[in-house]
Amino acid sequence: MRKDLLDLRSLSKEDIELVLDTADACKQILSRSVRKVPTLRGKVLVNLFYEASTRTRMSFEMAGKCLSADVMSVAVATSSVSKGESIKDTARTVEALGADFVVIRHSSAGVPHLVARTVKAGVINAGDGTHEHPTQGLLDAFTIRERFGSLAGRRVVIVGDIFHSRVARSDIWALTKLGARVAVCGPATLLPPGLDQFGVEVHTDLDEALPGADAVQVLRVQLERQKGGLLPSLQEYSRRYGINRQRLDTLGQEVLLMHPGPANLGVEITEEAAEDPRSVIRDQVRNGVAVRMAVLYLLSGGDDNELAG
Ligand code: CP
Repeated sequence: MRKDLLDLRSLSKEDIELVLDTADACKQILSRSVRKVPTLRGKVLVNLFYEASTRTRMSFEMAGKCLSADVMSVAVATSSVSKGESIKDTARTVEALGADFVVIRHSSAGVPHLVARTVKAGVINAGDGTHEHPTQGLLDAFTIRERFGSLAGRRVVIVGDIFHSRVARSDIWALTKLGARVAVCGPATLLPPGLDQFGVEVHTDLDEALPGADAVQVLRVQLERQKGGLLPSLQEYSRRYGINRQRLDTLGQEVLLMHPGPANLGVEITEEAAEDPRSVIRDQVRNGVAVRMAVLYLLSGGDDNELAG
């Protein structure tokens, strides 16, 4: 049994399938009139987000509460971090206050791994720099599997700033392990070298990449991580890599349009496309709660009987 969820690279296909199967059961709990089971009663979950978040932080809060855990979120900006307290000391403090799970997001890759080595509590990576965002990769895989029944043989196009995207990395690990064919597409300056080693197709022309897509994951243009010179003008980016209604219509009616959020509407995706019936962006948000419940449940060592309670 694992203590932590730090990445998807080290998970097997079977590990990922277990999370998705468990998330199916969690989603059933969320459809009930009383969306609460006693599984994690007496356990404490602490959210420690050094970077902004709406979806991930809120859905971990909801996931913990639906499993009856006590949930706390540290307001990092007004915590003793602002007095210079180190990450390790903050983690030890959170654990001393009784945390059984620490959910951490940080701008530097590897910080969740450091915290996992520091505390006995289970540590969940909620996004570390440009490295990974494992629960996003799991909920994206869950969302595609929910529609098609299986990922095997499905073609998923990931478009945008692959270089800076922890979502792209976690998606690639999850989707390829589950048998999907993954294509990535973006400006050459935003495609990291060595992508072919991940077993993905690499494109710089979106209109060449899209045909045959079962799902398209549109990545946010991460203006805060650009060092300059890597991105064409936003207008040019939008013209070459933006998803609009016209591009969506070339893919038929069954395609899934995805975006991990938050979206820059009018840049990487138009509002019209984001609100199209083919968009599953809000399903991704909803599925995030079920997947995070499943992760918490499995890390706590749970079995199916307890979840049914
Ligand atoms: N997808 C995602 O991580 O969104 P938040 O930054 O709102 O958590």
